[in-house]
Amino acid sequence: MKFLTVIGARPQFIKAAPVSRELRKTHEEIYVHTGQHYDKNMSDIFFEELKIPKPDYHLNVGSSSHGKQTANMLEEIEKIIIEEKPDYLLVYGDTNSTLAGALAAAKLHIPVIHVEAGLRSFNKKMPEEINRIMTDHISEYLFCPTHTAVKNLENENITRNILNVGDVMCDAVLYNSTLSEGKTSISDKLGLERKGYYLITVHRAENTDEPENIRNIIEAFSKIEGKKVWPIHPRTRNVLSNIGIDLNSVSDLIVIDPVGYLDILALESNAKKIITDSGGIQKEAYFLQVPCVTLREQTEWIETLEDNANILVGTDVDKILSAIKLEVAPSYKDYFGDGKASVKIAEYFNKEV
Ligand code: UD1
Ligand code: UDP
Repeated sequence: MKFLTVIGARPQFIKAAPVSRELRKTHEEIYVHTGQHYDKNMSDIFFEELKIPKPDYHLNVGSSSHGKQTANMLEEIEKIIIEEKPDYLLVYGDTNSTLAGALAAAKLHIPVIHVEAGLRSFNKKMPEEINRIMTDHISEYLFCPTHTAVKNLENENITRNILNVGDVMCDAVLYNSTLSEGKTSISDKLGLERKGYYLITVHRAENTDEPENIRNIIEAFSKIEGKKVWPIHPRTRNVLSNIGIDLNSVSDLIVIDPVGYLDILALESNAKKIITDSGGIQKEAYFLQVPCVTLREQTEWIETLEDNANILVGTDVDKILSAIKLEVAPSYKDYFGDGKASVKIAEYFNKEV
């Protein structure tokens, strides 16, 4: 079978790595990199360190408005599908690259495989919510990471080929966390002690694009005592510079460029708590059993909320500070599978060979 896989943003490289490793044992896979993320440390670094095969096509779409970016991808992916005639088109998650890939294929009657199907925040103001609803509704094969995701699809009357295989990000963490211990020296470089700092990431549009929200978040950071490490997403760096917020005014804050996957795993597992609005990092915090504070009002990953393993605080300064101080002792469960999601996805299609 021939798979055409469309990826383009940081979390998609990480999700694709374990699935491609399994899929390519039996099948042909062609990669289209849309170029949604393009800085070296948002893209190339993952291909190098996770040994992801080089993209066969690179669309170089870069950054622009949602409509323009998605339309540029759509136009180019359509041409590639016509040229390559794949049996399936594979997409991950909920970015504009996901939607463009799924839409181009569905219109050409190529069955769409959606990995990380069925997630919902029930907040349609999030661009990701629109992308994932649209993608799920035009997909033929829907691989869900959790039981909740299956239920969400059933509630929308989606009934075709839904499989709960577990989370491919869990596969990635299990595969790479031992590698990470031997291969990264980021903690030494930054002078960090184990469990001696908070790890921060912020990039969600609802936080960065609302000046009041980002100001509240920075105010909270300035009131958190102790060392904080922040690998800053380019979107957030740009916003802070545009609205004139200087992070030098926040004491004990180490701001660094985005890091590779092995470094972030090391930073996550050694942190005393993680403060984030990332979808992927909420889950990684759970897999690595590090308490998480999420700068959002909702989460798609509701399992992580059990026992306060993850606490939703939005952008309210007092809520952020109370959640940071709260002592928690969650009993972490295997809601996200056993690290074999990629094997299960590949095996599903092996039966169809
Ligand atoms: C995108 C996804 C989001 C995902 C995130 C992962 C959509 C709608 N959003 O958000 O779901 O959580 O990726 O990180 O698809 N930029 C650079 N260099 C880069 C990439 C981006 O400077 O390599 C800057 C540009 O100023 C750009 C901004 O970041 O305008 C936002 O990038 P974009 O890909 O549009 O959205 P993300 O916030 O990265
Ligand atoms: N990540 C990374 N380096 C960083 C920050 C994040 O490798 O500096 C990884 C992170 O561990 C996770 C993925 O990128 O696997 C999450 O991506 P992001 O937070 O950008 O997007 P989201 O998951 O919210 O869509």
